[in-house]
Amino acid sequence: MADHFQLADAAAQFILTRTPLRPKIGLVLGSGLGAFADSLTAAIRVPYADIPTFPRSTAIGHAGQMVLGNAGSVPVAAMQGRAHLYEGYSAQQVTFPIRVFGRMGIRAVILTNAAGGINLSYSQGALVLIRDHINLQGTNPLVGPNDDRFGVRFPDMTHAYSRDYRQIAREEAAKLGIPLHEGVYAGLLGPSYETPAEIEYLRRIGADLVGMSTVAEVIAARHMEIKVLTISCVTNMAAGILDQPLSHAEVMETGERVKTTFESLLRAVLPRIATQIA
Ligand code: HPA
Repeated sequence: MADHFQLADAAAQFILTRTPLRPKIGLVLGSGLGAFADSLTAAIRVPYADIPTFPRSTAIGHAGQMVLGNAGSVPVAAMQGRAHLYEGYSAQQVTFPIRVFGRMGIRAVILTNAAGGINLSYSQGALVLIRDHINLQGTNPLVGPNDDRFGVRFPDMTHAYSRDYRQIAREEAAKLGIPLHEGVYAGLLGPSYETPAEIEYLRRIGADLVGMSTVAEVIAARHMEIKVLTISCVTNMAAGILDQPLSHAEVMETGERVKTTFESLLRAVLPRIATQIA
């Protein structure tokens, strides 16, 4: 039976037969943020359902396809939507697409997500560069026997979120006049939103944002020594901060509102990351 590595390899080969492009940068576009992939040129779309072993996203606001195309002159592979642990997928399944990216020859990933803002200096629609994370998902994609073909048993997480890439993002945001905060992302299992008491706890342990994705993907990427840039969109202030209930509709609406800003930032950052890889 094929193992995880061979399955990732097979999925990667399957995707690469569809296009002459050989992207070195992968993107994961979160809730409400998938539109960027629609702007790629010379694009081909591969539905997750067609890719062998690929997990499908059931979350609303996720198109569920990989788009390979050019952002300006930079070839990229962009995932419109991701699988989440709360959908019932294992941490290994959730990170399968990152493994596939790795086997496609991708060396850098830009992960985006929708998150609740805990830091009171944030407001709805703010963009936040992730500096570090706290894994509270109760699992880890590297649980089980280690596969040395992917990486080492105990990967270092000191510089999980590339300092170089954060510097690039800060510089490009400044040039574009886009306010860009920086913070620590707490990854929770979900799917229920947090209670106000949980948000207070997360604030005290040093979290600026909370969400239900990304953490496992970052761990798998670092396991393969893929460099990571993560940008969150604060789609809502976290539970208990404003005296109002949270809803997925609000998350989607905010994603829609920041779309243009988000896209221009990605567009500016991509060529600089491409130059660094080359
Ligand atoms: N909590 C957890 N995940 C989220 C939130 C939130 O408030 N907003 C968007 N994703």
